[in-house]
Amino acid sequence: MKISIGCDHAGPELKNKVMAILKERGHECVDLGTSGPGSVDYPDFGKAVASSVSKGETDRGILICGTGIGMSIVANKFQNIRATLCYDIFTARMSRLHNDSNILVLGSRTTETGLALSILDIWLNTDFEGGRHQDRLNKISEMEKVICNG
Ligand code: RB5
Repeated sequence: MKISIGCDHAGPELKNKVMAILKERGHECVDLGTSGPGSVDYPDFGKAVASSVSKGETDRGILICGTGIGMSIVANKFQNIRATLCYDIFTARMSRLHNDSNILVLGSRTTETGLALSILDIWLNTDFEGGRHQDRLNKISEMEKVICNG
């Protein structure tokens, strides 16, 4: 898959580890920053990744901030985005099986690195179940049309 990834100043260290795993697994990685410890605003980086997935420029995205909360709020403003803040193996699995998550959000200050990388693994390798869950996602898409078109 082609996967875009972004973080704020709370995330570069985890982002580098995530990118190394993605490359190891043969995924194409699009790094949209930030790369250093200097303070930045998470909405800018959340927007970059969510917009690339929303437009179909990348297949999926990964966002990291301190808690994962800010990035989740930003990413879910974009059409076709199902950004899921996952904090354990169960939420990672369910986010794919039932929600067809297309952006994984991680909290670098709330989730220990080893667990975050296990969450990544599950999220990458779990398929959407479809069926009744697709019907529910269709309802969300319908809502998006109304909201985005007034
Ligand atoms: C930055 O200090 C912090 O607010 C941010 O990383 C994130 O946790 C916001 O939700």
